[in-house]
Amino acid sequence: MTRLLALESSCDETSAAVVSGSPDAPQLESLVILSQDVHRIFGGVVPEIASREHLTSVVPVTQQALRDAGRTFDDIDAIAVTHAPGLVGALLVGVSYAKALGHALGKPVLGIHHMEGHLFATALEHPLATPPFTALLVSGGHTLLLDVEAWGRYRLLGETRDDAAGEAFDKTAKLMGLPYPGGKHIEAIAAQGEPGRFRFSKPMLNAGQKLGDADYYDFSFSGLKTAVLLAVRGSDDLERDRPHIARAFQDTLIATLVAKTMRAAKAHGRQRIVLGGGVACNRTLAAAMATAAQEFGGTVFAPSPRLATDNAAMIGAAGLFRYAQGQRDGAALNAHSGLPIPGLVAADAPSR
Ligand code: KG4
Ligand code: ZN
Repeated sequence: MTRLLALESSCDETSAAVVSGSPDAPQLESLVILSQDVHRIFGGVVPEIASREHLTSVVPVTQQALRDAGRTFDDIDAIAVTHAPGLVGALLVGVSYAKALGHALGKPVLGIHHMEGHLFATALEHPLATPPFTALLVSGGHTLLLDVEAWGRYRLLGETRDDAAGEAFDKTAKLMGLPYPGGKHIEAIAAQGEPGRFRFSKPMLNAGQKLGDADYYDFSFSGLKTAVLLAVRGSDDLERDRPHIARAFQDTLIATLVAKTMRAAKAHGRQRIVLGGGVACNRTLAAAMATAAQEFGGTVFAPSPRLATDNAAMIGAAGLFRYAQGQRDGAALNAHSGLPIPGLVAADAPSR
């Protein structure tokens, strides 16, 4: 049995967790997430402020996670920390603290890829959310469609060519005068909207696309954002139209995510679909995905909001796998703003 202290500081959440067990049966002993509220005032994350806030909170957040788990530094085997991708100054706070702790305690440190963390998050709550599965990771910074053949063996099938799905929610919310981050506000007002009052075309999705086409699995959301902008500008009563526009935006975006995810699941013969990232908090998305999956007997696993958005528990869960694989990083571990997810194989690589 391995027990890890995990740290996450890639964006605007300072988070620490204690996770133990094995990669296929991770146990969450504690999780502390401190969300930096200050960015709300600026309508987006301000990198310099994020770094400073991480610096203030990383020690108390870690101490609280250990206290909540009833553990001390003596009880942990290693420290898992997000080292990429993200805001480099923000990542550096977690990485530097992890390395200092590792040095002082004589324990190994493991750099974990943030998106691999999102892949593992759901397994903390759903024992069946283990490979093989189709994964859709939708956050403020990323939109990735992956085939997960096994832990550590990932086929990147599609990604966004412009805005991430969460970014599209946030920018659309801003256009409509809603607070940041906008995803949950759009979902709430869309629930009051009437379907079909506004119609937007589904971006990068048409029936003529075939497997092997460059746009078969990829996403694009910036055109949809422009369509919303035009609808907002063209409205003579935004108070009346806002819920209907939000509804049309959300329906269109979700229809695209669902259609491409189903393509991937069918092409690879996967029965399980795992959602991750902040946009996976969207209940309408999870429900639409579940309905579509039912058609071929598939099951959809979505994490609870606490594990869908950025958190250290998912870094600990991915850390258990990487620790079992023998990964150990030393003082040379560094933060990287962009780095491909480890374990990528070519999309057409043969199955093992
Ligand atoms: O994974 P996350 O916490 O941070 C990043 O790594 O980006 O994702 C944050 C994103 C934001 O864009 C936010 O608007 C979106 O997740 N989000 C939602 C919902 N809740 C959060 N999007 C749609 N519907 C929601 N209910
Ligand atoms: Zn994230």
